[in-house]
Amino acid sequence: MTAPDREDPGPDADALAHRDRELRPRAFIRRRGRMTAGQARARTALANQVLGADAGLLDLAALFGRTAPVGLEIGFGMGQALLDWAASRPDWNLLGIEIYEPGTGSLLLGLERLGLGNVRAVEAAAETVLAGRSRLRASTRSDLLS
Ligand SMILES: C[S@@+](CC[C@H](N)C(=O)[O-])C[C@H]1O[C@@H](n2cnc3c(N)ncnc32)[C@H](O)[C@@H]1O
Repeated sequence: MTAPDREDPGPDADALAHRDRELRPRAFIRRRGRMTAGQARARTALANQVLGADAGLLDLAALFGRTAPVGLEIGFGMGQALLDWAASRPDWNLLGIEIYEPGTGSLLLGLERLGLGNVRAVEAAAETVLAGRSRLRASTRSDLLS
């Protein structure tokens, strides 16, 4: 009989390591691009509606100041679909995640123009935000990200 190899992590450890590798954010190029003056101004004016990469802590009720059904768009681009969604569902809290900074600027400009207050943007890689979802605090059963 041979002694168990203590260096062998075993299948469970392998599976965990594989999961960790899958959850690790992939390398990507942050697309800074060019922001228009209007987008930059809207970003400043609506800064309280933008969160950064450290937003793994989303308390959705506190973030939106109300409890409501929650929708999520990953990679909202310049934000047109999210703006349409927000306008058609003012009774929903909508969260958008995007890595393209001018995209956030464009979304905020649209929110300002349309007078919509039901959208929050997270400027980060979706993998990073969603990997921390266990830290989200659900305030109602309708919080999609609980
Ligand atoms: C094809 S565009 C979709 C735009 C928008 N959903 C629409 O329908 O008009 C994909 C977007 O996903 C964003 N994106 C790519 N990888 C991402 C990631 N890991 N996290 C967040 N956004 C990402 C890109 O910057 C890009 O704006």
